[in-house]
Formats: sequence, structure tokens, C-alpha cells
Amino acid sequence: MIETKQLIFTYPAEEGREPSPALRGVDLQIEKGSFVVVLGHNGSGKSTLAKHFNAVLLPSGGAVYVDGMDTRDELVTLEIRRRVGMVFQNPDNQIVANVVEEDVAFAPENLGVPTAEIRRRVDDALAAVGMGEFPTHAPHLLSGGQKQRIAIAGVIAMEPETIVLDEATAMLDPVGRRDVLAAVHKLNQERGITVVLITHHMAEAVDADRVVVMNRGEIVMDGAPAEIFSRVEELHALGLCSPDTVELLYGLNRGGMDLPLTAISVEDCADAIAVALGKME
Ligand SMILES: Nc1ncnc2c1ncn2[C@@H]1O[C@H](COP(=O)(O)OP(=O)(O)OP(=O)(O)O)[C@@H](O)[C@H]1O
Ligand SMILES: [Mg+2]
Repeated sequence: MIETKQLIFTYPAEEGREPSPALRGVDLQIEKGSFVVVLGHNGSGKSTLAKHFNAVLLPSGGAVYVDGMDTRDELVTLEIRRRVGMVFQNPDNQIVANVVEEDVAFAPENLGVPTAEIRRRVDDALAAVGMGEFPTHAPHLLSGGQKQRIAIAGVIAMEPETIVLDEATAMLDPVGRRDVLAAVHKLNQERGITVVLITHHMAEAVDADRVVVMNRGEIVMDGAPAEIFSRVEELHALGLCSPDTVELLYGLNRGGMDLPLTAISVEDCADAIAVALGKME
């Protein structure tokens, strides 16, 4: 489990400017095995928060614990990095080798994992992200979505407890985004890997266990997707929106209909509208 307690973080200020905290007292507990989506407009502190989860950044105030280990304790930094893997936005910056299987093996090799065990982990990780047929391919010839799945396989090969994806689908086309998201949901459901997904795509939050909304370095909303997304006007005030389904229901309600804003999946939304139209005939 990852826990932050009154976490404050301030980047070093530019000359002549007052430092302004990027995180202003964040209390958050992420349960093992959960799928948590973090939303918030640009500069709200999402990436800064995520970088505290694997000790890339250390608190200016408060504390962060990973399975009870304090991230400020240098003796446990490597263990924390092994337990919490990160995937970033640009797949090209995350590929380190010229052959897919060598790329996936890179991190466990650095950890000193025995060769036979590495073979097993690489095959397993590639299968887990649906890239089992590409072990000897050149990563730079793959699509963006395929590269991101290779990057995720590289993290899986470390056998982490948690994967943090910081806008990992932002540069992908809709199909690439769907494939990466499906791979991540599978890892969560079948292996119980905790997932923290930072995104600007509201639709990616629909199937999460929990949605956390950040604003100006603070958590301002925290709850189940249906609960958070039905608070349409609050989200608009934060410079955010709900998924298209809820925005449609909200728009129809403003036009005089009475639809439930909790129908966030496309199926539920369509059903709710069909029922309402049936009543109008
Ligand atoms: N390396 C840095 N040095 C100084 N200030 C920074 C640095 N990185 C981020 N900041 C500032 O910290 C605040 C939070 O930034 P952060 O990158 O965590 O936001 P974010 O929610 O991830 O935004 P985005 O959606 O654009 O990725 C912003 O005000 C930003 O300008
Ligand atoms: Mg960011």
C-alpha cells in the first residue's frame, strides 16, 4: 500500500521568485490491488505526486510510505523502486535496447536476477501485455501503442506491486490507447497489481475503482467514478469535464429531461436515454 501523510513539495524557486508549493498537504492511501485514476488540469500536481510514489522526489514536508517504508530512508530506495514501476508519456524515451526482449530484460538484469529467471520473466511479461509474438523485433519499428506495451512489460519484469502510468496513453491513437488500457486492466484483475493511472482522458476513468481529482496541489475530490462524474458543475469549475456520456446526459437534463448522471458507461447511458424516450411517446 502507498500512503502519503500531509505531503508538501516545493520545487526550487527561480531567482527572484517566491517558491510556491506544487503539493500542499496531500493525504492519500492507495489500497493494494486497487485501480486508481488521478485527474486534474495542467500543473495541478499529478506528476509531482506520482514521482513521490517511487522516491524520485522526496517530501519537503510530511511523509510518503510504500508498504510502510519511508521514502526518505535511502536504505530502502531500491526496494521501493522495485515495488513501484513507472511508465511515462513518450514511449521513445523509455526504450533502451535494439531488440524487444533485451529491452524488457534490462531492468531485471540490473537487479541481478539470474539468467534463467530473466528468460521466464521476459516471456511472461511480454505475454501479459499481448506482445508475446514480438520478442526479437526492433522496438523502433513498432507502433506507439506497441512500444508503450513493451515499456509496461519492462516494468512487469521487475514483478512490481504497483504500476504508475503518467499520461502513458497521451501520445497514442485510439486503438493504441485501448490496447494499452486493456493490458493494464488485465494486470490489475489477473495479477492483483495496483494501478495508478494519471490521465486527461475521462473515458479511461470509467472502469476505475476510484477517481482522485487534484487542483492546485491538493486533492479536491475522491470517490467512485459514478459519484465523481455526476458532480458535473464542480468538475467544470475545476477546468475539467465528465466523460462524454455524462456530459450528454447533463446537456439533455438542461434541455428539460430527467436522466441519471450516474449512467457513465456507453451502454448505461444509451439505456437511460432509450427508457426516457420510451416514456415520452
Ligand atoms: N521541474 C520543475 N521545476 C519547477 N517547477 C516545476 C517542475 N515540475 C513541475 N513544476 C511545477 O509544479 C506544479 C505541478 O506540476 P506537475 O507537473 O506536477 O503538474 P501535472 O498535474 O502533472 O500537470 P500536467 O497535466 O501538465 O502534466 C506546476 O506549477 C509546475 O509548474
Ligand atoms: Mg504531469
